[in-house]
Amino acid sequence: MQIFEIKQPKKSPKVTLVGAGPGSRDLITLRGYRALQHADAILYDALVDPGLLDEVSGDIPKIYVGKRCGKDGISQDGINALLVEHAFTYGHVVRLKGGDPFVFGRASEEIEHLESFGIPVDVVPGISSAIAAPAGQGIPVTKRGVSTSFWVVTATTKEGTFPKDLQLASQSSATLLILMGVRKLKQIVDLVCKHRSGMTPFALIQNASKDTERCTTGTLNNAAAITKTIDLTQPGVIVIGDVVAEHPSFFEEEVRRVLHSTI
Ligand SMILES: C[S@@+](CC[C@H](N)C(=O)[O-])C[C@H]1O[C@@H](n2cnc3c(N)ncnc32)[C@H](O)[C@@H]1O
Repeated sequence: MQIFEIKQPKKSPKVTLVGAGPGSRDLITLRGYRALQHADAILYDALVDPGLLDEVSGDIPKIYVGKRCGKDGISQDGINALLVEHAFTYGHVVRLKGGDPFVFGRASEEIEHLESFGIPVDVVPGISSAIAAPAGQGIPVTKRGVSTSFWVVTATTKEGTFPKDLQLASQSSATLLILMGVRKLKQIVDLVCKHRSGMTPFALIQNASKDTERCTTGTLNNAAAITKTIDLTQPGVIVIGDVVAEHPSFFEEEVRRVLHSTI
């Protein structure tokens, strides 16, 4: 039960959940940008570019409520409580979330909590990292004659195990887009290799659309060796499927790897 002092708000309480896009501040939608300009308070996540907040005029509260890998931050109950409190205190609160609010964003829990207090909620979609990360690297998630569908799967459930869908997706021929999986890359590849050829291309795109973006490509066979060369603390999207061969330097990197392994 949430207890707080109800102050007289300047305006009626209202919350807009805004998808900030994958990282770079100019990948927010125009509608999301406008919502920010009309905010009386902002609560923002870890993967949101803080530079975006500098573009918000006016001296309004901008509160960081980020948590990376589900740890080291405020709990979801704490965020829900802050949203209600700020909406009643300030009026229009923008809840700025990385990517799209409804893609592994816990938006539904926030909406349910807010609505239980009678606070109206709007949602502004955002560009999900699931699509933006491969697109920014020239990797199409579908391609005529190569891939007719894609699955967006999390590698981290609340129980801490792989979801059953990861296995089902591996058994299909769809492009796999795996979020929250960088630290488990080796185990993911082991699972996918039970159902797909070791020659299947994969890419790991970290910090997509930011200055620190890094893309690593290879085949499932050499993923274990590649894992040793990457920074596992940086967020990334894992792409598995033949579409990865469309990456402009995929073949060049493969040739280099083969040459190095035979020296
Ligand atoms: C809690 S999920 C939120 C996803 C978000 N709602 C979206 O639509 O992109 C966080 C995961 O998204 C992925 N992610 C988010 N931003 C990213 C970025 N800029 N580059 C690579 N992966 C990113 C990573 O897999 C990260 O662990």
